[in-house]
Amino acid sequence: MESLTQSTTPRPHQAARPAQPLTGSIAVPGDKSISHRALMFGALAVGRTRISGLLEGEDVLRTATAMRALGAEIVRDGADWIVSGRGIGGLTEPADVLDMGNSGTAARLLAGILATHDFYSVMTGDASLRKRPMLRVIEPLRATGAEFYARQGGRLPLTIRGARDALPVNYRLPVASAQVKSAILLAGLNAPGITIVEEPEPTRDHSENMLKHFGATIEVTAAGPASSQGRVIRLTGQPELRGADVTVPGDPSSAAFPLAAALLVPGSCVTVTGVGLNPLRTGLFTTLREMGAELAVSNERIEGGEPVGDITATYTGFLRAVDVPARRAPSMIDEYPILAVLSAAAQGTSRLRGLHELRVKESDRLAATAAMLRVNGVHVEIEDDDLIIHGGGNLPGGALVETHMDHRLAMSALVLGQVTGRPVQIDDARFIDTSFPGFLRLMRGLGAKMEAA
Ligand code: S3P
Repeated sequence: MESLTQSTTPRPHQAARPAQPLTGSIAVPGDKSISHRALMFGALAVGRTRISGLLEGEDVLRTATAMRALGAEIVRDGADWIVSGRGIGGLTEPADVLDMGNSGTAARLLAGILATHDFYSVMTGDASLRKRPMLRVIEPLRATGAEFYARQGGRLPLTIRGARDALPVNYRLPVASAQVKSAILLAGLNAPGITIVEEPEPTRDHSENMLKHFGATIEVTAAGPASSQGRVIRLTGQPELRGADVTVPGDPSSAAFPLAAALLVPGSCVTVTGVGLNPLRTGLFTTLREMGAELAVSNERIEGGEPVGDITATYTGFLRAVDVPARRAPSMIDEYPILAVLSAAAQGTSRLRGLHELRVKESDRLAATAAMLRVNGVHVEIEDDDLIIHGGGNLPGGALVETHMDHRLAMSALVLGQVTGRPVQIDDARFIDTSFPGFLRLMRGLGAKMEAA
C-alpha cells in the first residue's frame, strides 16, 4: 500500500457521542519522526537497512519518494521496507522538483542533506507547507557554503545549490526544534571536521540515537545550568554509516488520540500496544497524570534502541485542570490540540504555556485549536503564547471545525465530538493520512462514532 494520490476533494466527517464505552487493544502506526529518519539515514548508509514498522503515511512516503529521486533504492518487502543506501555524499542530482507534500520534517531534514551534496535541487510542498518558515534551517545551513533561494520569508519552493567543499557548522539553536538540530547534523555528515549543535532545551533525540545505531561518532554532553537540561551534540563528519535494522515503535503522538478518547467517554478502557516512550516525547503522559488520569504502562522494553511499552487509559470520570510549564513544550509539541480537548472536559481552568512554536505547525495550531473549542461552546483565551481553557462546563458541540490541512486538528476535533452534546463536524479528514492512516477504522473498532458527513 503505497499511495501518494491524496484526492483533491475534501472529505467532511462528523463525530458524535457513542452509546457504549470505548474498549479494546490496538496498535497505532509507526513513529513519524523515526520513520523519516530511518529512510534518510538508510539512504546515506552503505549497504542495506531493513525497517520494520515504518509509518506508511503520506508524509513518510514523500520522504521515500524523495530519497529514491536522489538515487537510493527503496523497496517494500512484505511488511518491511528495505533501503539500499548510497553512502555519505553519494546521492545524485534529482531530475525533477522534490515535492514534500504536507511534511515540515521531510522538508527541513532534507534541506540539511542537500546542503552538503554538490548539486542543484528544488523542493516544494502543498499549500500548508509552502506557508511554513524555512529560514530556521536555511540560515544555519548557509554556513556550510550551500546557497539557498527561497520565496519571501524563506518559504518554499526552495532552490538549493549544495556546497562543493562543505564546512562543518557550529550552531546554538535559537528555537527548541529537533528539525533544525537534525538538519544541521544531516548536513554535518558530509562535511569534514566536527559539526556542533547546542540546544538550550532538549528536543527529541531520534537523530542522535539513529546516528549512533548506524555507526557515526557522536558525543552528547550537558550544556548550561543543570536545571536547563541543555545539550551539546558533536558529530564527526564523513563517517562511514553502515546500513542497520531499524524497528519503528508506535507513535506516541498518534497513541494520544485513542487514549484521550478513552479518558473522555464514560466507562472506557483502551490499551495501545508498542508505543514509543522516549522521555523526550512523553510530556503528554506526564501532564495527563497531573490531571488525575488513570494511565498504566506495562510490558516496558527496549526495541530498536528506543523504550517502548503498552499504555492503558481507563475512564474515571474525573480530570482536573492543569498548568503546563513552557519548558515541557518540546516533549509534547504535537499533543497540544488533543490536550486542549481534554482540558475542555476537565474541572477548572487550564493554562498551557509558551506555545509560540504552535503558530508555525501544519496550521497556526494555537489559533486553530482555540477556534475548534470556541465554535463548539468552550470558553478559551489566548494570552501572549499561552492557551487558557475554562473547562468543566457542559460541552455543547454542534459546530463545524476548520482543520486548515492539519491532521492533528482533524483528529482532535473528532475526539471532541465523542463527548459533546451535539455532533462535531470537520471540513476535511484527508490529511489524517499524513500521520495516522487507519485512524477512523481503528477508532470505530474501539466503538467511537466517526463517519463521513
Ligand atoms: C519533529 C519535530 C517537531 C514536531 C514534528 C516532528 C521531528 O517539530 O512538531 O512533528 O521529527 O523532528 P520541531 O522540531 O519544528 O518542533
